[in-house]
Amino acid sequence: MEEDLERVLFDEATILQRLDELAAEISTDYRNRELTVIAVLNGSIIFMADLLRRIPLPLKLDCLSVASYHGGTVTSGEIVFRQAALPDVQGRHILVLDDILDSGNTLAAIRDKLAAEQPRSIKVCVLLRKVKDRQRRVDADYVGFNIGDEFVVGYGLDYMEQYRNLSCIGVLRKDRVAA
Ligand code: IMP
Ligand code: MG
Repeated sequence: MEEDLERVLFDEATILQRLDELAAEISTDYRNRELTVIAVLNGSIIFMADLLRRIPLPLKLDCLSVASYHGGTVTSGEIVFRQAALPDVQGRHILVLDDILDSGNTLAAIRDKLAAEQPRSIKVCVLLRKVKDRQRRVDADYVGFNIGDEFVVGYGLDYMEQYRNLSCIGVLRKDRVAA
């Protein structure tokens, strides 16, 4: 799989070192609050597993499944919530975990939907944030790494459901992307 990368942006050791820092920051901020984490499937699954095991606080974990890409490398703008019922967020301190903040459509839709259920607070944590103009006004409170506006895979991030199990994060070779 790694031969399909144009270049590696972050190797596994670099990612895990950054997660130590992120987890410490989150642990300090939530030390006196009951935390509920909502992970956005499927992209955040590996990030979630490594991050949450570094947070030594009691917390609840729920997942949310959404789709926006429908297979390409450019967002379709349309967000589909895959499950009938949302996690119970009323009166809770919510931390949404996602793999990457790109156009902002996904996180804006999730934030608006959860906010309507009256949580006590909502914050957003992403592993990667693309530095670019976004279609929706949304930002993350906790960010692993800022990256350029390139299509990346690995460590949970996919291209057509492939590459999620790469241990590093890298830019996919252009000739690996279907025309
Ligand atoms: P947004 O709605 O455009 O912000 O896109 C968010 C979702 O699109 C993420 O949760 C990813 O699943 C996917 N995505 C955006 N950029 C990339 C990328 O560079 N590589 C892989 N998936 C991406
Ligand atoms: Mg995806």
